[in-house]
Amino acid sequence: MKVCVIGTGYVGLVSGACLAELGNDVVCVDNNDAKVAGLRQGIIPIYEPGLAELVQKNTQRGRLAFTTSLADGVGCSDIVFITVGTPPQPNGEADLSYVEAVARGIGASLNGYKVIVNKSTVPVGCGDWVAMLVREGIQEARTKQAIALLAEEQGHEGGVATMTGTGPLPDFDVVSCPEFLREGSAIQDTFFGDRIVVGSNAERAIEKMRELYTPLIAQTFAGGKQARKIPFIVTDLNSAEMIKYAANCFLATKISFINEVANICERVGADVERVAEGIGFDHRIGHAFLRAGIGWGGSCFPKDVSAMTHIARDYGYDSKLLKSVIEVNQAQRQIALLKLQTHLKSLKGKTIGILGLAFKPETDDLRDAPAMTLAAQLLKLGARVRAFDPIAEAHAKLELPALTTYDDPYAMADDCDAIVVATEWSQFKDLDMGRVRLAMRPSSFLLVDGRNVFEPAKMKALGFTYVSIGR
Ligand SMILES: NC(=O)c1ccc[n+]([C@@H]2O[C@H](COP(=O)([O-])OP(=O)(O)OC[C@H]3O[C@@H](n4cnc5c(N)ncnc54)[C@H](O)[C@@H]3O)[C@@H](O)[C@H]2O)c1
Repeated sequence: MKVCVIGTGYVGLVSGACLAELGNDVVCVDNNDAKVAGLRQGIIPIYEPGLAELVQKNTQRGRLAFTTSLADGVGCSDIVFITVGTPPQPNGEADLSYVEAVARGIGASLNGYKVIVNKSTVPVGCGDWVAMLVREGIQEARTKQAIALLAEEQGHEGGVATMTGTGPLPDFDVVSCPEFLREGSAIQDTFFGDRIVVGSNAERAIEKMRELYTPLIAQTFAGGKQARKIPFIVTDLNSAEMIKYAANCFLATKISFINEVANICERVGADVERVAEGIGFDHRIGHAFLRAGIGWGGSCFPKDVSAMTHIARDYGYDSKLLKSVIEVNQAQRQIALLKLQTHLKSLKGKTIGILGLAFKPETDDLRDAPAMTLAAQLLKLGARVRAFDPIAEAHAKLELPALTTYDDPYAMADDCDAIVVATEWSQFKDLDMGRVRLAMRPSSFLLVDGRNVFEPAKMKALGFTYVSIGR
């Protein structure tokens, strides 16, 4: 099929590359000239395992192209995906201005029937709003065309006239197809996801989507290696949009829940790791997302949970549970700092090393990362802050120039008063922690393990003052 994907970020670039791999002709559109120029030369603007190879392979095959022209992308496609950002506004509501611009642009570029698929996470009701904007885009384009035509005629004949476009409007349907990929395993999640959700009030659009996703639903594309076929869930537009918010809110709730349990564990002398293990075996609960730590962050949870509370409020409902989920998280994100202050007292002039900067492993995404908040707070308190992250250092340096970054974790540890583990990169488990301790300033040997990566007994035996979360 002919597919256009508008917005080449974490979602758009992965979706575009994966749809090309499934055999479709995909054109990815972005209004960032430098990004598109880079992508045309094979430069991938984000870190995502396997993405560079997939983009390169499909570009060479001629199935994947990049452009800054929305009109060109839409013009040559049957299915148009919207995958632009919906970042939070200062008041917590989703900023829909990117979606709005793209929806109008699609309207202005329509040259026949298209299925317009919204993959951006948007508040309930946006499907109908996008349809309205597309119609307005069509009308605006027609008016412009008419004015241009009149100007041309007036050039020949003079006189004033008014005119708007006539004839039937190009046909389209709007679909909501929320994205569930996780950064760091985005390609795997796209090819072998837990479900594909498609919400629309138009049967023909749902059938087009079913056709597009048939290789995934039936798992035929990879030779049927995966026995479990992916469920294809069809809903109305509003329910699909709500599924995305409800899913992220539930996951954030699970993390805030275990963090609250961890805080109680610390007070009563229980070990949250054992508790999580014990409750996780109950199949109604499960083990996933029961890792206590220094709070959730990233590009989705904070904005989506916050947006959900605003949606609820707009419709006269006070979402007490979700507000508490946010409140627990805000407090949890202070915990590493409090533990440092408890042990080191004043942080002014102290050297603190941070292991891991991205909001989770296997990504360079720093949006709302707890480590970055911590680094900024420490700098404000007069500490010298160093950091090591396997891939996110360059981005972090741009955001926080006062941060000193290292390519080597042992060099980072050199002369540190304390070290904080802020992201659970798997390679941290393999660090020679004896060497890390030896490199540190012989003051407190404080190790704040904000992700419970290490075994307390081992760290104590190595001579660390070891503090973790809920143990
Ligand atoms: N990142 C994730 O893990 C994830 C997962 C699920 C859902 N989502 C949702 O998907 C959406 C996209 O998220 P993302 O992380 O990929 O965002 P992103 O910020 O990484 O990418 C957005 C891209 O859109 C481009 N863009 C903005 N306006 C444009 C326009 N008018 N025309 C063309 N391109 C334009 C930007 O240049 C950028 O490249 C958001 O709504 C997000 O909530 C994200």
